[in-house]
Amino acid sequence: MDVAIATGADQADSDADLVVVGVDSATGLPAELAEAPGAIDFRPRKRFLTMLRPDGRRVLAVGLGESPGIEDLRVAGALVARQAARVEARSISLGLARAAEAAELAAMLEGTILGELRLDRFRSSDPDAPPPPAIERIELRLGAEPDGAARELIARTRAAAQAANRARELQHLPANHLDPVRLAERADQIAAGDERISVETLGRDEIAARSMGGMLAVSAGSAAEPRLIVLRYRGAGGGETLGLVGKAVTFDSGGISLKPAASMHEMKMDMSGGAAVLESLAAIADLDIALDVVAVVPAVENMPSGTATRPGDVITQMNGKTVEVNNTDAEGRLILADALTYCARDLGADRIVDLATLTGGVIAALGSTYAGLISNDDAWAAAVSEAGEETGELVWRLPLHPEYKALTRGTVADLTNSARKRKALTIYAGSFLEEFVEGATWSHLDIAGTAWDTGREYFGAGPSGFGTRLLVALAARQARAAS
Ligand code: BES
Ligand code: MN
Ligand code: ZN
Repeated sequence: MDVAIATGADQADSDADLVVVGVDSATGLPAELAEAPGAIDFRPRKRFLTMLRPDGRRVLAVGLGESPGIEDLRVAGALVARQAARVEARSISLGLARAAEAAELAAMLEGTILGELRLDRFRSSDPDAPPPPAIERIELRLGAEPDGAARELIARTRAAAQAANRARELQHLPANHLDPVRLAERADQIAAGDERISVETLGRDEIAARSMGGMLAVSAGSAAEPRLIVLRYRGAGGGETLGLVGKAVTFDSGGISLKPAASMHEMKMDMSGGAAVLESLAAIADLDIALDVVAVVPAVENMPSGTATRPGDVITQMNGKTVEVNNTDAEGRLILADALTYCARDLGADRIVDLATLTGGVIAALGSTYAGLISNDDAWAAAVSEAGEETGELVWRLPLHPEYKALTRGTVADLTNSARKRKALTIYAGSFLEEFVEGATWSHLDIAGTAWDTGREYFGAGPSGFGTRLLVALAARQARAAS
């Protein structure tokens, strides 16, 4: 898809298949459209759409309500994507009834790209309802010539939204189409596309050789081979390294501590953190962000079988700490523990963010609106939180406290992966992970509630790619701070 920048007020003359004019209630319809056929039906209310037909052409008026914010513009973009599909538009012009700023149209562009994604690869095509054509070109009609920062924002928003869509496609894949080996193939593809990206994937033997007991324990019951996927992007060739770690359980049945049947099928999405991390690294490289970044994705399938880890088994993690596996469904923390140690110790990450669909507790606490944030560093927590505010991927910090450590202590081993008392389950998991970060500056995002079925207009049902855009924004901030 091409994104073009145009300036000037003559948007209605654009040759795009669909010209879109966002209208807030203070501005109202521009004079040249006020008399157009259809105009009497329009109201500048939020989410109110009317197709106008000046001289038989198509102009979609999109109501934005009073003083629309960035999130309102993302939502408007998603509504535009739906209309574009309906009228089979291949090119769109996005603008406002008043002079539009780059941040406003970037948000609308973001909503359009996210809203356009159709997850229909498993449907046979219906000749009576052929899929709408892809949008090939989007023009942004700005009020003024954009400066460097505005161009950077537009390019980054577009690359990050496309990366989020790729992460969503991965999330959408069921476990018989995406296992750890195939996820590693996606990482190979990303590395093949850019000389500055290298890939190093560890198989079962290399995982065993590094004593990654968590990886071995969680994958023990599955016929699918585990993979510890590492992508490294050299964008600066020195300075700090940002470490991104993403949980990728390609299917979480719960293992011997089997989950109930009702929504077990949704656990194909338990690789959402890994997908976000891989695709954000690809976007960071696409954008030539001047920062060294390493992505670590522990990929396994959690299954019950005669070779599976049993409740009560004691394992030794890569850093030597022993863990009593009292619930095989608390598997994410076991694979993340090894991945975090590897990221901090062997790959030299100075700052780490991990993303994981880790606990049901975070859904109870924060729903699908905020991801849970747990961090050992106030400034780093604030940076992650601000990056999320930029992209609308909101996070809310939960505390660490020495008292929570008592919950994680095992009866026969150093730690237990699941306490008998069901207290503070999200914080418990974060507190457990903290044992493995080797003193690195670290933030953990529990995305169990935000990765899937969020109810946001631009995601629809199913995958959101949560965190992909946040990580790109975060990398851009870190690169700016270092320059
Ligand atoms: N993958 C799940 C968490 C999850 C739940 C993600 C719902 C998305 C939607 C995780 O592995 C899990 O099973 N967590 C358990 C841990 C418990 C057994 C200590 C949980 O939170 O219930
Ligand atoms: Mn689980
Ligand atoms: Zn899980």
